[in-house]
Amino acid sequence: MKNSTFFILILFAFIVGGSSCQSEAELNYIRYYTTGKQLYESNCQNCHGNDGKGLAMLYPPLTDSIYLKKNKNQLACIIKNGLKGRIEINGQVYEGEMPAQAKLSDIEIAKIITYITNSFGNQQGLHDAQAVNQDLKYCK
Ligand code: HEC
Repeated sequence: MKNSTFFILILFAFIVGGSSCQSEAELNYIRYYTTGKQLYESNCQNCHGNDGKGLAMLYPPLTDSIYLKKNKNQLACIIKNGLKGRIEINGQVYEGEMPAQAKLSDIEIAKIITYITNSFGNQQGLHDAQAVNQDLKYCK
């Protein structure tokens, strides 16, 4: 099959799919996830790794972590304000310090959260800018 034919087929499938079964919410999720990945790569990957596994005792993992589920509504605060002190993940203790990233906007944080909570073995769906705005009012 020629490349252009393939492209037209994909485009067709996308249009048909877009109008019949892909809801606005699903498209939103895809948008958030895709940009979230880029934002993760430029703001988080240095420490947490491209596979979210972290680094030894220094940087905690984001992989299929109960911590991410339990602290879902604190993730925005962790990203915006940083994190310091003792935490435990999968039986491993970390006592490091994560720098604040105050320059990130609500929507950027939402995209990063959507990316990390749906990668590395996690599957928690969309977390949008409105949710982040709400989360940031209740930082511990
Ligand atoms: C300079 C290194 C560094 C960067 C950059 C960084 N983190 Fe962290 N992160 C840490 C450290 C260290 C901890 C553990 C802090 C502690 O022990 O209290 C942590 C903890 C966390 C936690 C809670 C523990 C866990 O593993 O679930 C989350 C979630 C997290 N970081 C997400 C992110 C996200 C998302 C970004 C990008 C926006 C980011 N981090 C950028 C170093 C970093």
